[in-house]
Amino acid sequence: MSSQLLRIEGLNKHYGAQHVLKDISCQVNKGEFISILGPSGCGKTTLLRSIIGLEVPDDGRIFHNDVEITHLPPDKRGFTIVFQDYALFPHMTLYDNVAYGLKLKKMPPAEIKERVMSTLGLLKLSKAVKKYPSQLSGGMQQRAAIARSLVLGSDLMLLDEPFSALDAVVKVDLGEELQELRRQFDITMIMVTHDQEEAFSLSDRIILMNRGAIEADATPADLYKMGDNPFIKTFIVDQINKRARYVWALSRGGSA
Ligand SMILES: Nc1ncnc2c1ncn2[C@@H]1O[C@H](COP(=O)(O)OP(=O)(O)OP(=O)(O)O)[C@@H](O)[C@H]1O
Ligand SMILES: [Mg+2]
Repeated sequence: MSSQLLRIEGLNKHYGAQHVLKDISCQVNKGEFISILGPSGCGKTTLLRSIIGLEVPDDGRIFHNDVEITHLPPDKRGFTIVFQDYALFPHMTLYDNVAYGLKLKKMPPAEIKERVMSTLGLLKLSKAVKKYPSQLSGGMQQRAAIARSLVLGSDLMLLDEPFSALDAVVKVDLGEELQELRRQFDITMIMVTHDQEEAFSLSDRIILMNRGAIEADATPADLYKMGDNPFIKTFIVDQINKRARYVWALSRGGSA
């Protein structure tokens, strides 16, 4: 069996006269953590929305487990997405938020309860089941959004800037939890981010976008070696070096 989960071939998308996705081709293997990294406005969210089925490309094709899905509606693709702003239903408890998708699927109530409670347990949210989103911290709300996504049992989870609204410590903890969940659930993750550090610390491979096109598709270590490319030098290498100097200075007790 192929280890390839997703394959994208020659995707193009325009908004009016603006060419937002330019001949995008890439693939994602089962179990990988992939980041789609690039500056604001380069087309990351549009690519993610095309994968989930919320955007229809002008041309090009998308395959899931070797079956073409380019024109399937989102509910027939079955991928789940986690957004920056959590997008929980404010009038529902944490339990009902996480159970919502399973109720839609008409799963028997006892099975729903078991799945929801075990997933909430893994995300350390068991004690908060009766709380409403407004009663939860940002980190808890994002874990709830991840639980709501995981519980559906999809083989691909998409995350659009999932850490942007969180503070630095929560961000690091949640990143580690995400990696742990990925292993436990044997799920593939594609995360959109504009943050080099996030992409470098979490990804097996980074798909680097620049103005609608793929500039590079490489492991973090290989990407760091591509400083001959001017875009990679300024957007990646210089940024990583700047942060490394800062951490080094701090570790020596100096100022950065
Ligand atoms: N529905 C839309 N209609 C018209 N233009 C759009 C639409 N959605 C996005 N765009 C434009 O397409 C380009 C790519 O947008 P996209 O949201 O994919 O970028 P991004 O890389 O996710 O940026 P950010 O890091 O700011 O989220 C931008 O110039 C944006 O203004
Ligand atoms: Mg975006």
